[in-house]
Amino acid sequence: MTLPAAPVEIVHYLPAHHLERSLRADVRAGLTAVPKTMPPKWFYDRRGSELFERITGLPEYYLTRAEREILARHAPEMAAACPAETLIELGSGSSRKTPLLLSALKAAGSLRRYVSVDVSDSALAAAAASLAPLFPDLTLQAVAADFETQLQVLPHEGRRMVAFLGGTIGNLERAQRAVFLRNIRQLLGPGGGSLLVGTDLVKPAGILVPAYDDAAGVTADFNRNLLRVLNRELGADFDVEAFDHAAVWNPAEERIEMRLRATRPMQVNLPGADLTVGFEQGEELLTEISAKFRPEGIAAELAEAGLEVAGQWTDAGGRFAMTLARAV
Ligand code: SAH
Ligand code: TRP
Repeated sequence: MTLPAAPVEIVHYLPAHHLERSLRADVRAGLTAVPKTMPPKWFYDRRGSELFERITGLPEYYLTRAEREILARHAPEMAAACPAETLIELGSGSSRKTPLLLSALKAAGSLRRYVSVDVSDSALAAAAASLAPLFPDLTLQAVAADFETQLQVLPHEGRRMVAFLGGTIGNLERAQRAVFLRNIRQLLGPGGGSLLVGTDLVKPAGILVPAYDDAAGVTADFNRNLLRVLNRELGADFDVEAFDHAAVWNPAEERIEMRLRATRPMQVNLPGADLTVGFEQGEELLTEISAKFRPEGIAAELAEAGLEVAGQWTDAGGRFAMTLARAV
């Protein structure tokens, strides 16, 4: 008889009033900036997490399939190079690729615990529920925390591997990445921990742009979800359908930029942030960047943070890279 897996408790480290206070601060800074901009973590309420999950299955969005292919082929080598007792996954979302890594680490004989970290409660809960029956002898922990500001709450003991998949590191600016990677290095300490990071690679705009502007309009819906979150959490009155989704390749910065473009002049009230902002017709709000990398650039950024490349793999199509680095 199989016993039902015990529900995994979500440990909350997001500060009280996280939504109201940090969202309010981000809105006041971002919507008064020129050009207007917002940090991407606010996409991911329940609906946002579900929409992202649909993005990962779109024909144009090759990233998830490419990363899965790399893990399916090379996870055993990664596990052998860095046999960890604890796998910590940042921005774990649905954790759908994680079983490939967990199985490899288990086979390497070391793994005891998996710690998932995300700002989305609903994603953490759904992921834990699907992983628990697959790995009954692992300790599963789910942590609601912000990986940019709260890495210090994560386990500091034992041999740890930090996984950061999905190309999410590309959603940080270069300077933010430098700070983030140094924080990871500090979390790992000198004791031989490792970072496994997935990065999308530079490729022709004709392939990149559709990955962020799909024919079915799921990405457009995901992008606009930010405005729905602002309407709900701050009592704002964005006319969500009056904003067009745009995905633009910026060749100088080698990144995709996700924007919401006002289709007419608008005044938007955000009472929860004590703010009213105007949009001109055609004015854009930058909602997310997704940087694309070159293999040597990844190694250079890691080295700058005191992380030394122990292995690097790409999918057969050379679209996506996974890099394993050790704290030195
Ligand atoms: N790792 C998954 C999901 C990637 S989408 C995959 O490879 O498919 C990015 C995930 O990071 C989302 O689940 C989102 O909720 C989470 N996220 C975004 N910003 C975050 C932050 N600052 N702190 C913690 N999680 C964050
Ligand atoms: N980490 C994902 C990426 O950069 C996030 C993402 C995919 C995303 N599609 C998006 C974010 C559309 C905003 C809008 O590929």
